[in-house]
Amino acid sequence: MLSQGPAHKHPTTISKDRTLDLLAASPKAELHLHIEGTLEPELIFSLARRNGLKLPYPDVEALRRAYAFTDLQSFLDLYYAGADVLRTEADFFDLAWAYFERAARDHVVHAEVFFDPQTHTGRGVGFDVFMPAFARATRRARHELQMTSEWILCFLRDRSEDDALATLAEALPWREHFCGVGLDSAERGNPPAKFSRAFARAADLGLHRVAHAGEEGPPTYVRESLDALGAERIDHGVRAIEDAALVERLVRERVPLTVCPLSNVRLCVFEDLAHHNLPQLLRAGLKVTVNSDDPAYFGGYVNDNLLQLFAVHPELGAAEAYTVLRNSLEASFAPEDTRGAWIAQLDQLWQPADSRAL
Ligand code: HPA
Ligand code: ZN
Repeated sequence: MLSQGPAHKHPTTISKDRTLDLLAASPKAELHLHIEGTLEPELIFSLARRNGLKLPYPDVEALRRAYAFTDLQSFLDLYYAGADVLRTEADFFDLAWAYFERAARDHVVHAEVFFDPQTHTGRGVGFDVFMPAFARATRRARHELQMTSEWILCFLRDRSEDDALATLAEALPWREHFCGVGLDSAERGNPPAKFSRAFARAADLGLHRVAHAGEEGPPTYVRESLDALGAERIDHGVRAIEDAALVERLVRERVPLTVCPLSNVRLCVFEDLAHHNLPQLLRAGLKVTVNSDDPAYFGGYVNDNLLQLFAVHPELGAAEAYTVLRNSLEASFAPEDTRGAWIAQLDQLWQPADSRAL
């Protein structure tokens, strides 16, 4: 049961400083992370050099200065342009490995990572280039970092469903290297139901299904993701709060939301972290997780998201911290016994000092 952890028995005995320390040190899962969004400006420049490409920015600082977004589309334009430096298997491996090493420092024990094949196949970089790289990075992370990972193939929702179906067909030789499908890119005007056949095909293939919804788009897109796509998790979903009946359903069906606070601020979904509605989502009983989305573009990895958010909200204390951490582990697609083992590790860390000494 979600609310039975040690922190819930002693919520008031844990100070804010101790809560932040525990948040940082706790085992956690990252469930909303686009690998192309971990492409740091330094890596963009080094890959451009390696591949003999000229960038339209003189240096790393100038590129970073361009990361002043006004909405999702203004970000996507730069995000797709940045991904153009990814050309070879080595490029994709270096990208994935850099993320896994960085995530391990935040005590991520498991990551379910999005990738956008259409961003690459459309410019002549095929599955045979990026899939072996992702699989190799996953194997190395398991051996060297004791971190498990899965890959989730995202369809670009501003393209056609036929394009999505063709992409899924192209991915079949690499079926064992990804566990699910997702839906990302420009949300407004691209309702989930546009992809119902592609998601039905994915279900037939035994794939998990998730979808971005309710980031910029309306709550109806969240409902449609459940009904037309069979989504098991909603990525973002912060606008669900506008629809009380939908909130009630998400709570009842225990549908996890993969919320990304720094992303929401950078893309102007909320004015700042103090105005983020995560405390409200938690209070409503929603199964909220905290994630980093595109950390190279939005100014922070998962611990930055957690620590900055909890630091600015007085009502977010130890009980809420324990809940979002535990939710991340529970909402992952890892086997039940593995999730149980992580939760046992989490509980060990969150035991009150007096009982730990016994
Ligand atoms: N929303 C939609 N598409 C995306 C995002 C996002 O936050 N990040 C990368 N692609
Ligand atoms: Zn996202």
